[in-house]
Amino acid sequence: MKILLTGGAGYIGSHVLKRLLDAGHDTVTIDNLKKGHKEAVLGGEFIEGDIGNKELLHRVFAEHKIEGVIHLAADSLVGESMKDPGKYYHNNVAKALNLLEVMVEHDVNYLVFSSTAAVYGEPESIPIAEDHPTNPENVYGESKLFFEKILKRYDQIHGLKYISLRYFNAAGADPEAKIGEAHDPETHLIPIVLETALGIRDKIYIFGDDYPTKDGSCIRDYIHVNDLADAHVLAVEALAEGKNSDIYNLGCGDGYSVKEVIAAVKKVTQKDFEVELSDRRAGDPAVLIASSDKIKNDLNWQPQYQSLEKIISTAWKWHKSGGFVDE
Ligand code: UFG
Repeated sequence: MKILLTGGAGYIGSHVLKRLLDAGHDTVTIDNLKKGHKEAVLGGEFIEGDIGNKELLHRVFAEHKIEGVIHLAADSLVGESMKDPGKYYHNNVAKALNLLEVMVEHDVNYLVFSSTAAVYGEPESIPIAEDHPTNPENVYGESKLFFEKILKRYDQIHGLKYISLRYFNAAGADPEAKIGEAHDPETHLIPIVLETALGIRDKIYIFGDDYPTKDGSCIRDYIHVNDLADAHVLAVEALAEGKNSDIYNLGCGDGYSVKEVIAAVKKVTQKDFEVELSDRRAGDPAVLIASSDKIKNDLNWQPQYQSLEKIISTAWKWHKSGGFVDE
């Protein structure tokens, strides 16, 4: 299959690209390289460009026999989305709509969409299943939910079939390839703790330990980025085989607290470092754990990395290697 991948130079996108290539698919990757890294694009055709550029999209669809699209290009910082909502509505909704319009014009009917657990907001029940109410607490989550609603209408009206994948906490790195998590700024727990283990940061701050959890710190469901990537490949293949539109959670179903993550990093890296308690970060739910039974049952998705230490080991290997040259 020839697949257009947007955002393929990013952390998750580069891992999706590798899995697509491994599975024998032809790919065209578009990324504006604002956050992505050219070195992370391990193969296929690469176009530096923005999905806001409709002419470019028309050209890409006219020149290539694209059969399906995997759309990841987006902004994804929760904090930033609450300071600059326009950026999120514009880049995550309006620009993505461009892509849909061009797809419809070129009669391309399959799209896999990168969504987020942030669409749920504060959970009413754990584990969170796909039919849990959606009440995003931040603009980032809301922008993704808006686009899911647009997709539902494009299916109803244009017959465009989609699978929306709601990611929980992506982590880890491909153990073989030279790709991994390299955000700037970095806000995610596991890379920040690893940077502390490497001595790049002085200490790690725990954002609150008075949550109603076993040790007081927040609990999250960490999923290895290759397991996440595999789900995209299964999803696009299922759509091509005639599957109907659907929405799936992607998590491991296990929850680990911030304190447990820090302890696991100390164990994996064999490094000790300072840990300091700090105030709660605004908008953090106490516990987020996914039920991913639906995608396991429907698409036979089988995550390979069920242990937090295994996930952290792969990220540690990448961080120790020094990351991308331009970092
Ligand atoms: N944390 C710390 N110290 C740090 C960084 C994070 O204690 O230095 C804590 C956070 O407060 C949170 C946990 O570690 O309790 C995990 O934080 P991350 O920032 O790694 O991940 P989030 O759960 O906040 O965010 C993830 C995705 C978002 C998505 C969200 C869905 O990264 O894109 O899940 O709720 F929106």
